[in-house]
Amino acid sequence: MAKKLCDLSEIPAGATRGVNLDEQRYIVVRQTEEIFVYLNRCPHRGVPLDWLPNEFLDHDGDFLRCAAHGALFLMDTGECVAGPCVGEFLIPVAFERMDDTIVLRG
Ligand code: FES
Repeated sequence: MAKKLCDLSEIPAGATRGVNLDEQRYIVVRQTEEIFVYLNRCPHRGVPLDWLPNEFLDHDGDFLRCAAHGALFLMDTGECVAGPCVGEFLIPVAFERMDDTIVLRG
């Protein structure tokens, strides 16, 4: 059975949500209609990115930001574009959208 990450209605456009499921941490990013899901693990030191629950964005809401040392990541590719791990990537997670629900694929 597909494992549910969250409902889209829980995430306003331009916002993020952290989900802990089966001892794994995920980041769900919603940009208007586009959705991206990554493991919540910074490539720099392997720690979660959020500084408060569901808070993953930089001040202007343009990038995902790691609270530990300030690395900035593109929301649509997970590439680090500033900070100590430039050129590395967040790990993307395969998912499916079933109406209002985001589920893990596979
Ligand atoms: S652990 Fe994320 S920038 Fe250092």
